[in-house]
Amino acid sequence: MQQFSNGVAVITGGGSGLGKAFSMYAAARGMKIVLADVQQDALDATVSELRASGAQAIGVRTDVSNAADVQALADAAMSTYEKVNLLFNNAGVTAGGVVWENTEKDWNWLLGVNLHGVIHGLRIFTPLMLKSAASDPDYEGHIVNTASMAGLLAGVASGIYSVSKHAVLALSEALFQDLNLVSEQVHCSVLCPSYVPTGIGSSERNRPDSLSSNTPLTPSQRVAKELSQDAIVNGPVSANRVAEITFEAIEKQRFYIYTHPDTLLAVRNRFDHIVDQQNPPLSFEGNPSRSARRTRLLDALQQPA
Ligand SMILES: NC(=O)c1ccc[n+]([C@@H]2O[C@H](COP(=O)([O-])OP(=O)(O)OC[C@H]3O[C@@H](n4cnc5c(N)ncnc54)[C@H](O)[C@@H]3O)[C@@H](O)[C@H]2O)c1
Repeated sequence: MQQFSNGVAVITGGGSGLGKAFSMYAAARGMKIVLADVQQDALDATVSELRASGAQAIGVRTDVSNAADVQALADAAMSTYEKVNLLFNNAGVTAGGVVWENTEKDWNWLLGVNLHGVIHGLRIFTPLMLKSAASDPDYEGHIVNTASMAGLLAGVASGIYSVSKHAVLALSEALFQDLNLVSEQVHCSVLCPSYVPTGIGSSERNRPDSLSSNTPLTPSQRVAKELSQDAIVNGPVSANRVAEITFEAIEKQRFYIYTHPDTLLAVRNRFDHIVDQQNPPLSFEGNPSRSARRTRLLDALQQPA
């Protein structure tokens, strides 16, 4: 995509973190913004900030796990701005702990937002974008799905999140193949960041009561939460930098977007093990800080639940 000015960007999870950074970056490039978030106050605050900066922006309260909400988001985007050029399927939440301890409600919440949110986005917006492409030879469209390095690595005590992000990666690769069949005007990318300081560590703030497990965290879940919160707060790359790298990739039609290239060594190692039929490499081996994390998890697993 080369022409951003006067284009329309739809961003889910736009009230905070990466989504907010995408919206600011897109607005600075002259795009009109359709911001979606389940958290009304964060949505309103970001829309006000965008407008104060001179951007045209609307906010649509959206729970991305709900197909009707995503349809209403698309309807609002089309009735207000008549097209969508950039779609960020970005809203996401996190949870952790050893994988057999996650409840059915944990799975429904996490897969609902992280996976079904992206599915609804693709299913509802891609046909609209292809239709715009078919009727205007100058139309350009691009879809960015936010996965994670957890879409390429399955670490310890983070299985539920890794599963959701592996699915987003597979879905994005499938979208890439399928778009390639039908259009040279609509492209897609998958964004795979490692830790970035954002609000993701407190995802529970937006967990609906109907999907609350109503049970205290298990020791492994408690430690996994503390460890991931620590890593997020100390994330070495800012949300603004992620936005900059992402827009560069959109411009260059790059599918895989990496923001923490040092983590790719572990990905290469994982795939070498897969191809060589070796057992998965243990994520703490040769890494002192990961070894310390493992020790804390082992200690937690010794505690009574
Ligand atoms: N921060 C990181 O370290 C990191 C690393 C890799 C991937 N990611 C991914 O980046 C994306 C953005 O997360 P973030 O780090 O900016 O976190 P964040 O919590 O700052 O922002 C996520 C936004 O999504 C919204 N949201 C939550 N549930 C929703 C729902 N059901 N419908 C609509 N909106 C919803 C939240 O209100 C919030 O505004 C997520 O997909 C996350 O998995 C984050």
